[in-house]
Amino acid sequence: MSAIRQSIVISAALFLFLCLSLVVQNPVSAQATGADKPVAGATPGGVDTGSSSDADIWRQIRKGAPGTVVGGDKSGGLMIQSGGQDWRMIRNGPLPKYSAWAILGMLMLLSVFFALRGRIRVDHGISGKTIKRFSAIERAGHWLLASSFIILALTGLNLIFGRALLIPLLGKDAFASITIFGKLIHNYVAFAFMLGLVMIAVMWIVHNVPNRHDLMWILRGGGMIGGGHPPARKFNAGQKILFWIIILCGASISLSGWALMNPFTTEMFSGTFALINNWFGTTYPTDLSPIAEQQLQSIWHAVMAVFMTAVVLAHIYIGSVGMEGALDAMTTGDVDTNWAREHHSLWVEEEEARMAKKDEGSAAAQPAE
Ligand code: HEM
Repeated sequence: MSAIRQSIVISAALFLFLCLSLVVQNPVSAQATGADKPVAGATPGGVDTGSSSDADIWRQIRKGAPGTVVGGDKSGGLMIQSGGQDWRMIRNGPLPKYSAWAILGMLMLLSVFFALRGRIRVDHGISGKTIKRFSAIERAGHWLLASSFIILALTGLNLIFGRALLIPLLGKDAFASITIFGKLIHNYVAFAFMLGLVMIAVMWIVHNVPNRHDLMWILRGGGMIGGGHPPARKFNAGQKILFWIIILCGASISLSGWALMNPFTTEMFSGTFALINNWFGTTYPTDLSPIAEQQLQSIWHAVMAVFMTAVVLAHIYIGSVGMEGALDAMTTGDVDTNWAREHHSLWVEEEEARMAKKDEGSAAAQPAE
């Protein structure tokens, strides 16, 4: 054998030996061959340091069983929370889909109503005489609530639909800047909305207690069934329904918004579920993890906001283009007496009686000549 062939054979033998010794030392390869497969509780390769890899522990972690956190953020004890997947699926699927249906559906409904009914006119025409409907403070409360709601609705809807609608139009960078700015505005304007809500609730709650006239108003469809105008006091049944939707949904949106601004500090859903279970014998979960609370708050906040937006669209329609003479109530504060007699006949009677009494009082106070 030549010297060259001898050195090739020796090199090949050395290479083979090296490869074999590597395979024997490498635990991954050993595991792959099944020679040293870990048994329950043992770590791969028989390494003694580190924690046990018991399959039961991993199963518990996967199913969302929380561990214990010593100090710091307690929510860190939960390593995997499958609820996050459900939340993302709802957030990106049914939520935008049904929100679009609700808002576009309401716009379509109002367009059809306008096409069929047209603008609701003052039957007896504008008289030129007016009656005070809302004081300056009432109008200030209304416009504080209305303007803040419109800003919140626009910046909030951007979070639901912005990615799909605005990115193709403006690009990702512009959308990102708008959304970051919008979120900041959303968080601050929320306080103006809450103030407006409290003002409206305090000033108008007394006028929104249901009474027997409301039933008649509803049965007559606010005048659409049988013609004429059903009698009403300061607010008719339709307005009372709107008032209670605004107050209750507005309070719910405020509370869930507060929970979103202060994550992991509230347990509103656990508490609410406990109450519901007590009242109705249901079995909703009452030991929700902090992250599950946040996910429910986020979905609830969006659902309430979209519902309220759809309802408010109908209100804006009837308060502006839908009804002649209505908007004056919220601009100057004075409405035409013919409009007032047609839509709020009992309120006009009450106001006239009050004015007459006031006049009598001041006449009696005048010294006789
Ligand atoms: C540009 C938008 C809006 C317009 C033109 C408008 C117009 C009006 C008008 C004219 C009234 C008085 C109706 C009457 O004299 O009987 C009214 C009342 C009221 N508004 Fe608005 N509004 C707007 C937005 C909002 C918003 C966003 C909210 C709440 C989030 C709201 C809540 C209320 C409530 C609770 C009442 C009392 C109940 C009623 O009259 O229906 N408004 N609005």
